Amino acid sequence: MEKKGSHGFPVRDVREQFPALRRRYHHRPAVYFDGPGGSQVVQGTIDAIAGYLAGGGANLHGQFPTSHETEEMISGARSAMAELLGAKPSEIAFGPNMTTLNFSISRALARDWRQGDELVVTEIDHRANVDPWLAAAEDRGMKVRWIRVDPERLTLDLDDIEAVITERTRLVAVGLASNGVGTINDVARIAGLAKSRGALVAVDAVHAVPHFYVDRGLLNGDIVLCSAYKFFGPHVGVAAIREEVFETLRPYKVLPSPKYIPDKLETGTQNHEGIAGIKPAVEFIAGLGSGSTPREKLISGYAAIEAHENYLAEMIRSNLAGMPGVRLYQAPTHVKKTPTISFQVEGITPRQFCSRMAEEYSIFVADGDFYASTLADKLGVNQSGGWIRAGLAPYNTEEEAGRFIEAVKGILATL
Ligand SMILES: Cc1ncc(COP(=O)(O)O)c(C=O)c1O
Repeated sequence: MEKKGSHGFPVRDVREQFPALRRRYHHRPAVYFDGPGGSQVVQGTIDAIAGYLAGGGANLHGQFPTSHETEEMISGARSAMAELLGAKPSEIAFGPNMTTLNFSISRALARDWRQGDELVVTEIDHRANVDPWLAAAEDRGMKVRWIRVDPERLTLDLDDIEAVITERTRLVAVGLASNGVGTINDVARIAGLAKSRGALVAVDAVHAVPHFYVDRGLLNGDIVLCSAYKFFGPHVGVAAIREEVFETLRPYKVLPSPKYIPDKLETGTQNHEGIAGIKPAVEFIAGLGSGSTPREKLISGYAAIEAHENYLAEMIRSNLAGMPGVRLYQAPTHVKKTPTISFQVEGITPRQFCSRMAEEYSIFVADGDFYASTLADKLGVNQSGGWIRAGLAPYNTEEEAGRFIEAVKGILATL
């Protein structure tokens, strides 16, 4: 049983809901510390996907039960995502993944942009929230300005933000949490300034939504993007787009796509079985909380996840910090972070290290720059294979954190 310190979090009950956790590797239970690359999937999602496929799927607009049921199911998924992000169901669009959705949105917005307009991106972001905007800027002859990252603090440097976001800025693209080093960015501040200058704000919340409550309204984001496979669900991308922006957005039109929101962004037949798996993933988070409304349950469910994950993350961070040869890449203590712990170990490449973690200790951790490439290049870590990234999820335990710490010590002892 989990003991005090993990805040009474029902981790055993949680684990029961994730069948993949029964997997063993080299005769030991596998430890999944690769959550930021994609979490394991909750049973409710698996059942809903299988149930949709087994129960009779259909395309939309048919006058028969499977088609009606498909439409109802999609509408339920929109409502669940609207609740999760503090948006309206009509503002929620689905797509293959965050990157593809972001591209469709950037193409559509760029149709109304002109030479001389400006875009702002950041050095800390995943390239999925940089490159679609760079492409738009190239196509339209726009200037791109960057919000720099402070390489010592691993936070965005907002000192000259007033000069970066100008009256000519059309959109600011910023990540809510860094999938590379876990830093949670002050998006509300950046968005407040962007709004005062008349710019739109696109928030990449992919690495945030698995870990804490993301309120679209509080963030002031016009476009908020996430991916359900990072929060215990299926491989489906999700965009929440503020109604006034969405109504005027001009996605490339094909005859089968309607003119109305949110469907106009969903070109082609969607991944119905995947979308069927979204609501149970949201319900899993709400199920960890309490309260009389779905919103209250989600907020308190996230609070429980945060307390549990942060407890384990601190345990790992404080142990790694004391190990000779280990270099942690973390923002200062007072800066809020996700439970994502990136580091390098002297004398071994991240790739070799992660391979030994899997083969000798049955612990799954990933290596690389995770497409937070601008940051990794700026820090110079790409020259030595990127980071080793241990990312926690609600189903991880204190015992697994202990196994991880012992495994790192074990490898260090052989170097
Ligand atoms: C912060 C962040 N943004 C964007 C993405 C891209 O998401 P997707 O795989 O859904 O395109 C990822 C994926 O790792 C991510 O971590």
